Amino acid sequence: MATKVTKIGVLTSGGDSPGMNAAIRAVVRTGIYHGMEVFGVMRGYSGMIDDDIVKMESRSVANIIQRGGTILKCARSKQFLTPEGRQIAYENLKKRGINGLVIIGGDGSFRGAQKFSNEFDIPCIGLPGTIDKDIAGSDFTIGFDTAVNTAVDAIDKIRDTADAHDRLFIVEVMGRDAGYIALHSGIATGAENILIPETKTDIEELIDSLGEKEKRKKLVNLVVVAEGDDFGGGNEVAKIIKERMPTTDTRLCILGHIQRGGSPTCLDRLIASRMGYHAVESLIEGRHNVMVGILNNRMNYIPLDFAVKAKQRISKEWMKIVKILAS
Ligand code: F6P
Repeated sequence: MATKVTKIGVLTSGGDSPGMNAAIRAVVRTGIYHGMEVFGVMRGYSGMIDDDIVKMESRSVANIIQRGGTILKCARSKQFLTPEGRQIAYENLKKRGINGLVIIGGDGSFRGAQKFSNEFDIPCIGLPGTIDKDIAGSDFTIGFDTAVNTAVDAIDKIRDTADAHDRLFIVEVMGRDAGYIALHSGIATGAENILIPETKTDIEELIDSLGEKEKRKKLVNLVVVAEGDDFGGGNEVAKIIKERMPTTDTRLCILGHIQRGGSPTCLDRLIASRMGYHAVESLIEGRHNVMVGILNNRMNYIPLDFAVKAKQRISKEWMKIVKILAS
């Protein structure tokens, strides 16, 4: 029979995402509600290894629901990838009696949790915290909605100046391996083309379609490119367009890390609160090695390794919509 979870650790790992604080708050307060002791692990898995672990009280998470970033800080730990590193981490948890963990992060963080939970007797629950939305088993990831709205706001502003000058703008958004921010923000801002890592970029087709729109005197041209697009991101795309379309007034804007910060949207606060609450409930129910997601507005529990391996698939229909609506 599974040991009763009485002391839990919560950590944020990988890249930060808006809404992580709301999730931490939910974990801490739900844990305390159930009479548990809750500990915050600083800087992700690094804090487990460095023994940087602090006791959390209900007041420790006051006034954070509206704040971006994470009060527990984030890191990507190389040492945790080694068995020796994980052993030290385990001993630091064990000496405090921590017997349950909630990991808020993305695919790399879940891979670490999966390994750790297989090696030691500490159940791990993952919450999908990433602006990239590249995790299977959940309609939402904590931070995506805020990031995509930040991108939309910025692209709308760029559109104003693109329109005023009859310019072509290449806008690079975040997403090293995933095109969701590009796809959602591109459709929502009426981009002419959207280039993402999941589909092969046909640069000739892009140049032809831009040239054809120019001939038709279609006024605003916006191309949204995910940073991890296979052709090489915004810089490469802008470079080739400038070479091949020398008479077009082309500019590049890289949005970068502004997409990771800022006050979380209502949706991100809400899903973070629901997921945080259910993470603790899951530990009480004896679940381990699962990610808590939300599918069709219901809580969904899937094995951590499935969340990582399966990813989400970009719908072909969405790509078709982009083409038709940009005509
Ligand atoms: O995973 C989130 C993300 O913002 C990606 O979209 C981006 O490629 C990456 O993190 C950037 O990471 P870093 O801040 O470490 O450069």
